[in-house]
Amino acid sequence: MTNQDGFETLAIHAGQEPDPVTGAVVLPIYQVSTYKQDGVGGLRGGYEYSRSANPTRTALEQCLAALEGAPRALAFASGMAAEDCLLRTVCSPGDHVLVPDDAYGGTYRLFARVFSGWGLTHDVVPISHVAAVREQLAARKITVVWAETPTNPLLGIADIRALAEAAHEAGALLVVDNTFASPYLQQPLALGADVVVHSTTKYLGGHSDVVGGALVVADPELAERLAFTQNATGGVAGPFDSWLTLRGVKTLAARMDRHCRNAMRVAQMLAEHPAVSEVLYPGLPSHPGHKTAQEQMRAFGGMVSFRLLAGEEAAVRACGRTRLFTLGESLGGVESLIEHPARMTHASVTGSPLEVPGDLIRLSVGIEDCDDLLDDLRQALSDS
Ligand SMILES: Cc1ncc(COP(=O)(O)O)c(C=O)c1O
Repeated sequence: MTNQDGFETLAIHAGQEPDPVTGAVVLPIYQVSTYKQDGVGGLRGGYEYSRSANPTRTALEQCLAALEGAPRALAFASGMAAEDCLLRTVCSPGDHVLVPDDAYGGTYRLFARVFSGWGLTHDVVPISHVAAVREQLAARKITVVWAETPTNPLLGIADIRALAEAAHEAGALLVVDNTFASPYLQQPLALGADVVVHSTTKYLGGHSDVVGGALVVADPELAERLAFTQNATGGVAGPFDSWLTLRGVKTLAARMDRHCRNAMRVAQMLAEHPAVSEVLYPGLPSHPGHKTAQEQMRAFGGMVSFRLLAGEEAAVRACGRTRLFTLGESLGGVESLIEHPARMTHASVTGSPLEVPGDLIRLSVGIEDCDDLLDDLRQALSDS
């Protein structure tokens, strides 16, 4: 592969040369913990123990790095394991970080309930408002600015380039959780971010059959430090999980095109629906982040959130009435999912500055026939 190859080519081939021994076109699952050494310290290809490195994981890491346009990626057992490794590496007890006012509940919980005990303090900032972030950066020493864009579950948009500039002027790192967009729609490192976080469980894996995470970094020295922590703490992606994720990645571009097309139609239908008070989708011109999203994303993604006029109980009822949209947590698979964030994915942020409205419903719009999806939502909302 060369750096000139297009995204779809890299997704299928980067890190995945045919097997040199058999010619197998698909990379084997190296389901192995240890490797024969040719004399003490005589490693073949650098492999000695699968926590430190495993060929199937290496292939996934090379592929993810290529897709984000970076020299190095590291694959983890989950998105949370990736986030944990990153914070342990770039922060120290006593440091202060900025976290977004809308984010995956588990990410906020990691800051508020785990790293707070380690001595890492945080402030919550409106991440779509760069001026507010700059104010916080001017007020005290900040180690990390953490951003999600689009955010989970309110689909807010953060201006990555402007945030990177602001963070760097203040000597902070900008971390962008790129899970909702995927590297096909958005490449934060090219816009100035220092680290990209992924829950590969979502669009990268794409089939709701594997949990995983990744860190992608531009700076090789930082990558080395992260790799040290990863090996020292051990939250690595296993060989079979790496293989499943790689298989999913091959079709990322084709799937994302369809997710985006379906999501736009779903958002437009909901925007006209009498039971709906607000649709949160960055593809709608009425969305406050629409222009920024247009500038930094190829298209607007497969996630759509909306609020019901009739309130929380109506939202909970609607979530239980769909036929094709499966009621469940997670997102980014080929099948459509529906959920009630306040009682499900974001229950852990109740009472915090990240609490989400009770009348909110979040959709992960899949790649089924869109007419079927629209019919399903219309019938679920029919008496809301
Ligand atoms: C935006 C985002 N980041 C991180 C995570 C955590 O990833 P994982 O569930 O793979 O640990 C999630 C999970 O839903 C998420 O939605």
